[in-house]
Amino acid sequence: MMLQVPGVLTPAEVAHVRGLIDAAAWVDGKATAGAQSGLVKRNRQLPQDAPAARDAGILVRDAVRRSPLFMSAALPHTVFPPLFNRYEVGETFGDHIDNALRFHADTGVRIRTDLSATLFLTDPGDYDGGELVVEDTYGLHEVKLAAGDLILYPASSLHRVRPVTRGARTASFFWVQSLVREDARRALLFDMDLAIQCLAESAGQDEPAIVSLTGAYHNLLRMWAEL
Ligand code: NI
Repeated sequence: MMLQVPGVLTPAEVAHVRGLIDAAAWVDGKATAGAQSGLVKRNRQLPQDAPAARDAGILVRDAVRRSPLFMSAALPHTVFPPLFNRYEVGETFGDHIDNALRFHADTGVRIRTDLSATLFLTDPGDYDGGELVVEDTYGLHEVKLAAGDLILYPASSLHRVRPVTRGARTASFFWVQSLVREDARRALLFDMDLAIQCLAESAGQDEPAIVSLTGAYHNLLRMWAEL
């Protein structure tokens, strides 16, 4: 399941994050790439132990945790400390699948990457190219979102970032280990949660059928969640 989560950061928060990271020292993005992805990755990143990356990463992590849509769709067990990348003219990231496991040396966080997330930090009018292209069984999905919006997609997907041809594209990216490992199960729970919320708005939380459906949601989550 791919999901757009709009407005994870407000315009003021985007400006704040950009203020923190833009002046920091960026390094070659190959630093966090695996052997295969390192061959096709041409961009720059903030070192994960850079103070600016740490501070901005905490802002991003707290913002996604405040998003009911993100929480319902991702059902996060652990959110990897967000990282930051930038693609300038001619830079790109070719076809790859993200590493299955990630270890964060500073915090000791170690996760299985069930979901990948990109939070856009540049207005789409400020650059050309730089689309995130994700392949799944329904074909190709091109993603280029407003600054502050986030895309969530299965980390098992083949994906790439098209070359930037004007301006520069700055984004935050991170991975999530979900309480529910399987994408299909997580998608079912998400659909069910949205439908229950929708029904509750029209019929009221105490409607017996909604109480029953809410119970079924939790019993499925109990069956599938891994802590
Ligand atoms: Ni990737």
